[in-house]
Amino acid sequence: MAHLSNGTMTHASAITGNTDKKPTPWHGAGAAEFDLRSDTMTKPTASMLEAICQTTLLDDVFNEDPVTNELQSYVAQITKHEDSLLVLSGTMGNQVAIRSHLAQPPHSVLCDHRSHIICYEAGGVSAWTGATVSPVIPQNGVHLTLEDIKKHAVLQDDIHYCPTKLISLENTLNGMIMPLDEVKRIVEWAHANEIKVHLDGARLWEAVVAGAGSLSEYTSLFDSVSLCFSKGLGAPIGSIVVGSQDFIKKARWFRKSIGGGARQTGVIAAAARVALTETFGTDPKGQTGKLAATHERAKQVANLWTSRGGKLRYPLHTNMIWLDLESSGVGPNDLAEIGQQKGLRLSGGRVVVHYQISDEAIARLEQVFDIALKGDFKRSEDTSKPYGSK
Ligand SMILES: Cc1ncc(COP(=O)(O)O)c(C=O)c1O
Repeated sequence: MAHLSNGTMTHASAITGNTDKKPTPWHGAGAAEFDLRSDTMTKPTASMLEAICQTTLLDDVFNEDPVTNELQSYVAQITKHEDSLLVLSGTMGNQVAIRSHLAQPPHSVLCDHRSHIICYEAGGVSAWTGATVSPVIPQNGVHLTLEDIKKHAVLQDDIHYCPTKLISLENTLNGMIMPLDEVKRIVEWAHANEIKVHLDGARLWEAVVAGAGSLSEYTSLFDSVSLCFSKGLGAPIGSIVVGSQDFIKKARWFRKSIGGGARQTGVIAAAARVALTETFGTDPKGQTGKLAATHERAKQVANLWTSRGGKLRYPLHTNMIWLDLESSGVGPNDLAEIGQQKGLRLSGGRVVVHYQISDEAIARLEQVFDIALKGDFKRSEDTSKPYGSK
């Protein structure tokens, strides 16, 4: 559980007027401790409150806010890109980046068929760019390879087709890692064919912490990357897009056009900076933060499931455990219903570990698995809590 340090308490209390030091909603992990639906369910911490209390409050539409500018410079530096732009969400980061790369139809964007940009962004890419989005099924079931991409990319100017102008990769995708060598092959080939490559790196932090490569080894390969502060890192709001100076100049324009030009963004940037420093860490491989421990806990969860005869739907690489409910004889909403009885928030067959999940939550999860896999529980007919990737 997160606790206010005395210094934090004193400063934040002085500013918020809570001088009798009553517990505030910023104390502890709260409901996040027992919420395994997503790593977006983390609760902002006392040190984020402290940073918000001390932040600068100038106007970011005029590029004048020092804390926002410092965050943008820092992220550009650690990702080895020229510039970066704070955005309000991962969706906004992807949409602004993709729009900034594309000129006008006919054109197409190639991506994994499970990727967030095609499944969960309200059709934004085609609506906003006029591009056809081409979903590709990776042959290995885990991540796209150059061979998958070559099979589906449109390079010729036959008027029946939409030329591929952008490849959008996602890492991690459903918690699974795309290896650095495969990214290098894809980007090299794409650039040789004048195709840009964007990375939806909402959870790239997780791949880095798992040892797949350093942050900049990944990010420097791409024309643009969007990274989220509000998933496993635990900030309340915010994502960031990195790229060249020209690209970010254009992205700032498109961000404005969808209402993403916000004013006193110091409150967002301050909490995001704490999330980056404390949860990911200050080293390029994220070994000084809190994420590595969540991967160990995810392995423990997977073992609890498989040691009781449960099957996994996808291999476990990071912090997401995908349970194959059907072949394990468990109904689509059983875990959510049993979890509710035990005071746990679960949905479908995806269990996501974040840094505020406690030992007590894992102990309760073990009881849930016991009940579900023993077949004592009447299988639920409710399918309203499907697998998700949000
Ligand atoms: C891989 C990926 N990209 C983008 C997003 C979108 O982020 P947001 O919910 O902040 O719009 C999500 C959301 O969970 C995601 O999982």
